[in-house]
Amino acid sequence: MDRIRIRGGNTLNGTIHISGAKNAALPLMIAALLTEDTLTLHRVPRLADVRLLQRILGNHGVDITVAGKRSGQNGRDGETLRISAKVIADTTAPYELVSKMRASFWVLAPLLARCGEAKVSLPGGCAIGTRPVDLHILAMEKLGAEIAIDAGYVVARAPKGLKGGHIAFPKVSVGATHAALMGAVTAKGDTVIENAAREPEIGDVAQCLVKMGAVIEGIGSSTLKIKGVPRLHGAEHAVIADRIEAGTYAMAAAMTGGVVKLAGARIDTLDEVMTVMRSSGVDVEAANDGLKVKRNGSGLAPIKVETEPYPGFPTDLQAQLMALTTRARGTSIIRETIFENRFMHVQELARLGADIQLHGDTAEIRGVDRLTGAQVMATDLRASVSLVIAALVAEGETTLHRVYHLDRGFETLEDKLKACGADIERLSSH
Ligand code: UD1
Repeated sequence: MDRIRIRGGNTLNGTIHISGAKNAALPLMIAALLTEDTLTLHRVPRLADVRLLQRILGNHGVDITVAGKRSGQNGRDGETLRISAKVIADTTAPYELVSKMRASFWVLAPLLARCGEAKVSLPGGCAIGTRPVDLHILAMEKLGAEIAIDAGYVVARAPKGLKGGHIAFPKVSVGATHAALMGAVTAKGDTVIENAAREPEIGDVAQCLVKMGAVIEGIGSSTLKIKGVPRLHGAEHAVIADRIEAGTYAMAAAMTGGVVKLAGARIDTLDEVMTVMRSSGVDVEAANDGLKVKRNGSGLAPIKVETEPYPGFPTDLQAQLMALTTRARGTSIIRETIFENRFMHVQELARLGADIQLHGDTAEIRGVDRLTGAQVMATDLRASVSLVIAALVAEGETTLHRVYHLDRGFETLEDKLKACGADIERLSSH
């Protein structure tokens, strides 16, 4: 298994090209199941999760060709995937594949919409809390599907097709909103989705569905109104920039000091993140085509933050923010309200010298003067990158084990950081 070695102490200076968002690319690829025509996606990040989803879609009979280069490489901007679900050969998503990545459960809605049936294994994915799928099931039932749970599988049927309905979510869920949207666009009649998640990635998928012929009102708001159409057609779409990747590198730059430009970052999706970083004393400003992050020697002020659904502070940046606060001058408070058990980075940050106390869903972080390098273990995607951020300022050498967690969500992380002056290298296992 690969490891990453980091020698801390270098400031970061330069430009980092932000990739297409993983959390938009995955549902966009899944949306291709809704049409017989080809969906062309540009700026798809080259990630383990994308490759796994290619395999999962292949299992349903979907044909995918890949062209293009990584973002920032030779001026090209991510990969281009041409996805053709002309024939759906199989409506079952097996445990062996779905258990590796939670988002693959999301094939349920488009398979059901297109074929009138789907059998999808209950998901696995990052070990952060129980992460149920009751809201996905609620959405499909409201669209007229019959659902049964059988031997670890969700078995869904709508032999006469899905029909429009009123879906009022009792809780905000990104995945269930994607499911409701993908189920509704070709359902017979109108659908209203209330308390929809407003994450920019949902807006991106909705925009792509509109290009495919869907009729959706209220994109970007918490009430989506959909007029079902008989069929969708092919389209071409570029994946929105990854706000979590941008926020992660912004925090890395804030941690080390220096000036880093995040090229292609969409500042309109980063309002709350920028507000929090500014309150900590980091200079974050819009630059042409992106964001500029600067910290000149001054210390970081402590902060008090709660994770919330968009437009609040994202849970996917909680671990990275915590890494940053380990060096603040004073005590910071971070409360995680989206996922229980999303504090697995705490123990590992402590191995680098962080002083963090957990009280239920709240972490109290007392800033320390110095962190020191150690052997640490990646436990999930976002937790692992928080260790990288801490290691960038830790004295001496840090080795991060189980790097495959990072590869699920960060495209060429070590190259991007190295180009800005970080002392970081991947140690391959072979
Ligand atoms: C998506 C993101 C993930 C992010 C999360 C929250 C992708 C591929 N993943 O995950 O990176 O951390 O949003 O912003 O886009 N819940 C239920 N019942 C359900 C579904 C969810 O109770 O049927 C709960 C979850 O346990 C959690 C909360 O709702 O407490 C939010 O989860 P959700 O928004 O669904 O997360 P994901 O879509 O899985």
